[in-house]
Amino acid sequence: MAAPGSRFVKACRAEAVDRTPVWFMRQAGRYMAEYRALRKQYSLIEICKKPGLAAGVTITAAEALGVDAAIIFADLLLPLEVMGLPFHFSVGEGPVIEKPLRSKRDIGSLQTNRAADLGYVSEAIALVCKHFGTSMPVIGFCGAPFTLASYMIEGGGSRSYLNTKKMMYSSSAWDELMQKLVKVVSEYVAQQVRAGADAIQVFDSWVGCLSVEDYRDYVLPRTSELVHKLQSNGVPIIYFGTDSTALLPWMKKTGADVIGLDWRVPLDEGWRSLDFKGAVQGNLDPILLFADWKLLKARSAEILKLAGGRPGHIFNLGHGILPETPVENVRALTKFIQDTPVQRFCQQLEESN
Ligand code: CP3
Repeated sequence: MAAPGSRFVKACRAEAVDRTPVWFMRQAGRYMAEYRALRKQYSLIEICKKPGLAAGVTITAAEALGVDAAIIFADLLLPLEVMGLPFHFSVGEGPVIEKPLRSKRDIGSLQTNRAADLGYVSEAIALVCKHFGTSMPVIGFCGAPFTLASYMIEGGGSRSYLNTKKMMYSSSAWDELMQKLVKVVSEYVAQQVRAGADAIQVFDSWVGCLSVEDYRDYVLPRTSELVHKLQSNGVPIIYFGTDSTALLPWMKKTGADVIGLDWRVPLDEGWRSLDFKGAVQGNLDPILLFADWKLLKARSAEILKLAGGRPGHIFNLGHGILPETPVENVRALTKFIQDTPVQRFCQQLEESN
């Protein structure tokens, strides 16, 4: 850990802090001119695989926004390649997995002993940690087994997750796939923590397509196993999903230190469904960054108010920043959150009670 005493890490541990830490999912990306300029020369995968470039993108974004944590620039799907599933990004289509998993045999042939080949991500983390020292915590990340499996099986994004669910319901290989993902991802994350990551975010972006029953039976056991393995590295774990309101109490059972909330649930309701235990991260609708400042500020203030000054709130969006987002709004929002002391809302709450 490079910055264990930081506001962000303390908030992840649900310890009291003077003001709410803030960072943004997808804070480095196409909405920034510096990133678009670099993308004229290099593909996304090339940037990910060159530690100097990935570290540069991470640092530039965190410094331009003045946020309280830097998330390493990488992609969720990188582990697929070392498991034997090559992929590429096609313009307008997003990720394309060249030979999606469709059978028990396909799952049987996935490799699990090449996590070390992802070392370029931890090299980038080490460079970012060296640059910031203790002044800025660095977040490493990985995909959750369900969301990674959904890409591996569907071959890309999906509306219905038909093939994924069919595999989940009918094949004894589902658990084998989950186990293989837990092995590779936990080794990958251990490298990230050894390189200096202060926290790890587990993205379960598409878990909201599941019923509570399916989540409970097919996803929770191996996701909990993953979270426990990741925690054994000594850093807090943030577990994020979208469309996950009904799943929140179950996601909490993974034991993650912080649960990421999307914008569909009022922050206090989401936190209440976790019994106010542990920390929460979120949860402004990313599209509010396109609204005028008055509305953006009012809605952000409302989120701080719903957090009520309780220890353990990290301000973020309910999902990633979109490519056309005006950078100046992200910067103004960061400053607004940082200029607002936590206490104010505690006092207001007490006065109104
Ligand atoms: O947050 C950050 O600043 C760190 C960088 C980051 C990227 N991908 C870089 C990236 C992170 C955290 C991710 C995670 C990721 N990747 C997720 C989970 C997060 C989420 O939004 O739920 C998922 C599902 C992926 C897979 C993926 N990568 C998709 C669906 C896409 C979109 C394709 C498109 O064309 O929009 C990507 C591409 C991607 N990953 C971009 C960036 C900056 C944009 C594409 C580019 O630069 O060409």
